[in-house]
Amino acid sequence: MSLMKTYKRYNLNFVEGNGVFLIEKNGEKYLDFVAGVAVNALGHSNSELVNVIKNQASKLIHISNLYYDDNQLSLANKLVNLSGFSSVFFTNSGTESIEGALKIAKKYGKNKGKDKIIYMNQSFHGRTLGALSVTGQVKYQKDFTPLIDAVIPVNFNDIEDLQNKMNNEISAVIVEPIQGEGGINEISNEFLNEIRSLCDFYDSLLIFDEVQAGVGRTGKFFAFENYNIKPDIIAMAKGLGGGVPIGALIANKKADILTYSDHGCTFGGNPLVTAVGNKVVDIVSDKDFLNQVTIKGNYLIKQLNNLMIEFDFIKKIKGKGLMIGVEIDTDKIDIKDIIETAITNKLLIIGAGSNTIRLVPPLNVTIKEIDLFIKLFEKTLKSCS
Ligand SMILES: Cc1ncc(COP(=O)(O)O)c(C=O)c1O
Repeated sequence: MSLMKTYKRYNLNFVEGNGVFLIEKNGEKYLDFVAGVAVNALGHSNSELVNVIKNQASKLIHISNLYYDDNQLSLANKLVNLSGFSSVFFTNSGTESIEGALKIAKKYGKNKGKDKIIYMNQSFHGRTLGALSVTGQVKYQKDFTPLIDAVIPVNFNDIEDLQNKMNNEISAVIVEPIQGEGGINEISNEFLNEIRSLCDFYDSLLIFDEVQAGVGRTGKFFAFENYNIKPDIIAMAKGLGGGVPIGALIANKKADILTYSDHGCTFGGNPLVTAVGNKVVDIVSDKDFLNQVTIKGNYLIKQLNNLMIEFDFIKKIKGKGLMIGVEIDTDKIDIKDIIETAITNKLLIIGAGSNTIRLVPPLNVTIKEIDLFIKLFEKTLKSCS
């Protein structure tokens, strides 16, 4: 095998996709509630995105960031208008958006005696060395130490721990509003309010990692809109391109401090990916579309709550919108077994943390498809129990 062994792959080779379905080489059809790990916000081969890609590719694909291009300007304007923030930097991935955010934090703290960054235990921010340094999971870090050492972990949702660790030396606090990889753990309002007020008190920046929870996933375009505070920096990626690689870093006025030669990205926000990003944002930011995400998410949660009555090893249903976690009692049943059995039932699901099944279907999934999911998931759980 010529691929590095960085992923444990299932023995599936997909050749085609259509909406919430994927077609395997052997012709079998799978219901996809993984959606490229919360990337395919509008499903596979969405015809509107395909048309944009075809049209843009025939005109202009890449020009570098030495020149302007209307697609990039237009997408930046949309993100600024939707967030009320100041400016945007385009990247190719989540981890790059986080790197940009960390560089802003570093620069913000420079010459102010603020050289430390607070992050959360059980968080996940990416695999590059900066993002990995603020990822609160030893399993991802252990073979790559020493990482950036001016970082301080805080227990997620632990106000006392936060209060003990915040001080004048903190340039930024980085947090996921809903921890994705860590197990679909939602931030509490009290904890978030405390982070915001301590960041204000100590003149530190608040970075929201919305790489997974952003772009409509929680039923709001930005995840921060679920809360009554605003961060200073938003890191995005995943759903923003509906499948083409694009990320973004959005800074408010206070954090809008990167200037010429501070940062760069060769591919970042090229005409092709920003053309697609514009279309995704136009579709997803529509109020009715976002309401539908909430309605469908609530429907899915309701159906899952019913399954909880049937299966005693389901401990909890967590999450918001279409970012949902099914917490399993792993003393009774193995997450890996559930995922593998689901595959035999032509259903794709993914784990999060040590005990949670993560459901992140395309945002335009239908109620009928959710019903099909419940049927296949129930069948899977029955054969596992
Ligand atoms: C919350 C969060 N941040 C950052 C990342 C890293 O994104 P990428 O894999 O695009 O670098 C991920 C990826 O899963 C994520 O879920």
